[in-house]
Formats: sequence, C-alpha cells, structure tokens
Amino acid sequence: MAEELIIAASANKKERYETLLSQLEALVAGERDMIANLANIVAALKQTFDFFWVGFYMVKDEQLVLGPFQGPVACTRINFGKGVCGTSWKERKTIVVPDVEKFPGHIACNAASKSEIVLPAFKNDNVFLVLDVDSDRLNDFDVLDEQYLSAVMRVIERIIA
Ligand code: SME
Repeated sequence: MAEELIIAASANKKERYETLLSQLEALVAGERDMIANLANIVAALKQTFDFFWVGFYMVKDEQLVLGPFQGPVACTRINFGKGVCGTSWKERKTIVVPDVEKFPGHIACNAASKSEIVLPAFKNDNVFLVLDVDSDRLNDFDVLDEQYLSAVMRVIERIIA
C-alpha cells in the first residue's frame, strides 16, 4: 500500500478531493481486512480536510455501531431511523444538514457539531455502513462534498464486495 498520503498544496477543495481519490485505491490495495482499510480511509479524509469528526457507523444486528473514526469520542450505537445517520440508513440516501439544530431528532454526540453530511454504502443492495462527517461550522458541506464523498463510498463498496 501507499505509505504516505500526498495532499494537494492548494486550498482548493476540488483539487484536494481529486488528489485524495487518486490515492484511495492504492491505499487499500493489497489489504483485505475491512477495518484496516476503513481506518486508513478515515485517516486520509482527516489528514486531507481536518474535519472536526469523520467516521463510519456499521450496520450490525439492526443497529448502527461506531466503526473507525477520527475526532472526539462519539455515541457508539444508533437505532434505525434515528438521528441523521439512522435516517440515512432508513432512507438509503445521502443527507446534508446545514444546521443540526434544525434537523428533528439529530443526535448530538458533541455539542460543537454544527453541520453534517451522512452517506450510505451498499452491499447486495442493503446499507452496509454510513460515513458521517461533522463540522463545527454551520453550512459547511456543499454539492462538491456530496459528489466526491459519494465517490469515496463507491470505492468502499468495491472493497467490501
Ligand atoms: N449526529 C449524528 C450522530 C453521530 S455523531 O455526530 C458522530 C446523528 O444525528 O446521527
């Protein structure tokens, strides 16, 4: 695997995503352990964007259970349909929340979180995990994040297939 992550020197978000994506396949190549790969992917996202909180919740026994993440300690279990993560799982779609206080049922793992994006990944047409990214700033995620983080989810789907 690639031992070191190259991060685009430019502050341009699109270039940072492009540089990250071009390395993700190499980052997971040759390693078959899913947790090891998810841990490195989440570390690469943190290194590239310094997100306040970024991590995975894995579908296990009818709940979402905390997986590899970077950031402050977080809730370990989320029920189907609860919070932003449980809603993304239930509705099988990406959810962008510009202001968490305006999302009914938002689960505040950390009071500093202000906006959030959650994306599902699928295995055999079922949600297998969600990626949750939190910001300590309002309205911090846009269509570019949605587009490129979706591409990250498609890489994940290939490694968990
Ligand atoms: N805010 C999320 C819970 C997870 S933490 O933010 C890490 C939610 O409402 O599902």
